[in-house]
Amino acid sequence: MWNKRYANNNDTPQACQVLRECSYLLPPSATALDLASGLGGNALLLSQQGLETTAWDLSSVGIEKLSCLAQQRSLSINAQVRDVIQNTPEENSFDVIVVSYFLQRELFPALLAALKPAGLLFYETFIVEKPAGTGPSNPDYLLKQNELLSLCDGLIIRAYREEGMVGDMAQGSRNIAMLVGQKPNC
Ligand SMILES: C[S@@+](CC[C@H](N)C(=O)[O-])C[C@H]1O[C@@H](n2cnc3c(N)ncnc32)[C@H](O)[C@@H]1O
Repeated sequence: MWNKRYANNNDTPQACQVLRECSYLLPPSATALDLASGLGGNALLLSQQGLETTAWDLSSVGIEKLSCLAQQRSLSINAQVRDVIQNTPEENSFDVIVVSYFLQRELFPALLAALKPAGLLFYETFIVEKPAGTGPSNPDYLLKQNELLSLCDGLIIRAYREEGMVGDMAQGSRNIAMLVGQKPNC
């Protein structure tokens, strides 16, 4: 399904909102992983910022397109086809991990373990409490209220946003939760 979608997509990939808005939290030199990268908008930003960047996705078309774009931009991104559920990241292997619009709850223990001490997790995906007609309808792919905070228990929360349906619905980022968490340095 994703191969077909990416083959027909000629948009320039963009980094997710939390990474764009909080990129100033990134360390100056570090290893970074864009997990379930798709076309690699996050990986491109991480690499542009000077991080040693890896991108993993199940879609060979997504990975191929990302590799081409990285080459065009003279960026060095280690982009690989990988099933991240079957083959989770090794413990203590990255300083920064970014996951956007990919929710597999059972992956969180491996994600937190894969962060090095003081490492940062950037996470963004859809929530249950969202305006009708936006995002997926399958509740398996929607975070419940404050669920992302629970899934990241043990991290120091550096940034968090989950606005739901409160106040002026014409403003804000209503259908997603965004988090930056840091692994304690010990
Ligand atoms: C909604 S897209 C998000 C892509 C990208 N993170 C973004 O924000 O644009 C979900 C991605 O997860 C990938 N994916 C699904 N299952 C996967 C798995 N088991 N291992 C690796 N990638 C997977 C799909 O190929 C797809 O690229």
